[in-house]
Amino acid sequence: MAASLPSSAVAPRLRAAVVGTGAIVSGSHLRALAVHAADVELVAAVDIDAARLTAFAERAREADGIGEFTGYTDLDAMLEAERPDLVLLGTPPSLHRAQTVAALRAGAWVLCEKPLCLSLAEFDEIAAAEREGGPYAAVVAQHRYGSGAVHARALLTSGEVGEPLVAHCQTTWYRNRAYYEVPWRGRWATEGGGPTMGHGIHQTDLLLHLLGDWVEIRAMAARLYHDVESEDVSTALVRFANGAVATVVNSVISPDEVSRIRIDTVEATVELTHLYGHGNDDWVYTPRSGLDDQARVRRWRTPASDERSSHAAQLAGVLAALRAGTRPPGGGADARRTIEFNAALYKAAFTGRTVTAGEIAEGDPYYRAMHGDHPDWAPKENA
Ligand SMILES: NC(=O)c1ccc[n+]([C@@H]2O[C@H](COP(=O)([O-])OP(=O)(O)OC[C@H]3O[C@@H](n4cnc5c(N)ncnc54)[C@H](O)[C@@H]3O)[C@@H](O)[C@H]2O)c1
Repeated sequence: MAASLPSSAVAPRLRAAVVGTGAIVSGSHLRALAVHAADVELVAAVDIDAARLTAFAERAREADGIGEFTGYTDLDAMLEAERPDLVLLGTPPSLHRAQTVAALRAGAWVLCEKPLCLSLAEFDEIAAAEREGGPYAAVVAQHRYGSGAVHARALLTSGEVGEPLVAHCQTTWYRNRAYYEVPWRGRWATEGGGPTMGHGIHQTDLLLHLLGDWVEIRAMAARLYHDVESEDVSTALVRFANGAVATVVNSVISPDEVSRIRIDTVEATVELTHLYGHGNDDWVYTPRSGLDDQARVRRWRTPASDERSSHAAQLAGVLAALRAGTRPPGGGADARRTIEFNAALYKAAFTGRTVTAGEIAEGDPYYRAMHGDHPDWAPKENA
């Protein structure tokens, strides 16, 4: 891989392919590629559904900066013919592991939609296909990358707002019954779980990004409304390595929808309230009573720029890492921690025990699958 270069005309454009040209790729990934068109060109698109490919090509034609690219209905054929630098993966979750590994083996870096995979076992298989200096795989976690999140993390990790003490992490969304008629949704083998894996993962990933390592978790899960194999709500109590304690709710049965993280520190309450994306104004800092240093409080509230959380914001970091030959944001131990957190949440919920970080290893049923083979939560046969 070439030495680190700033994004400039000196370096040839990187060559990217998209795989799975459905909703998320035709929207967020296409926009991200258009934003970074000076740095990366779309050379190929893959979908097993030729009609989806055609629809994507029509949308791409309207997007700024996206030129001609070749359509394929087979991933391996595309990898062989195009040898892309980067693969953006937006297929259903059960395909992520095998397609990520195939792309890595073909020498391409991967930015895969969440969840990167369905279990810790799958994660470790992906990690084994990476090579020192690249290619690496990363998972989309776009809410980490807006300026508000970058700023909040800097304030929290530098100690500027004091030690974190108490946190709430809330994904209370609503999905109707028609949503779960799509065959891959709500099933362990294809979605990996319910709102814990598919929806709340954005917020819990951001919570871990802001607060660091967790050490123990207690949890509950329930199937209250939808006809699914997995849960439609989960709740958890979490203790972090820094001593902070948090509550987590992941729900797809909450009519008044909100995504929310609130962290009370020694000096302030840090609050993010949004739904599917945030800008600086969605972050509120409330100083503790008696903290009268107005200049300091103003610093908390005013990041230098206002960049919304987005796929484009994360892609910038991935392209820079690719050029530098370093691990991209959203990969490695950082990504594994979020998958492990979810495995532990399910294990705690289904066994009724407190689960500690690091305990789910090979041989543990929750290492292989989020349902852990628990008889009350097992996949339905012939589903
Ligand atoms: N980051 C986010 O905010 C966000 C939002 C929505 C969805 N997602 C994730 O994106 C992924 C896709 O979701 P979606 O809503 O776009 O789904 P979708 O069903 O709209 O699109 C998936 C596409 O993959 C194609 N496909 C299926 N099998 C394939 C194969 N073997 N090879 C190539 N293409 C294949 C399908 O034909 C379809 O066009 C999921 O993992 C989902 O969790 C992320």
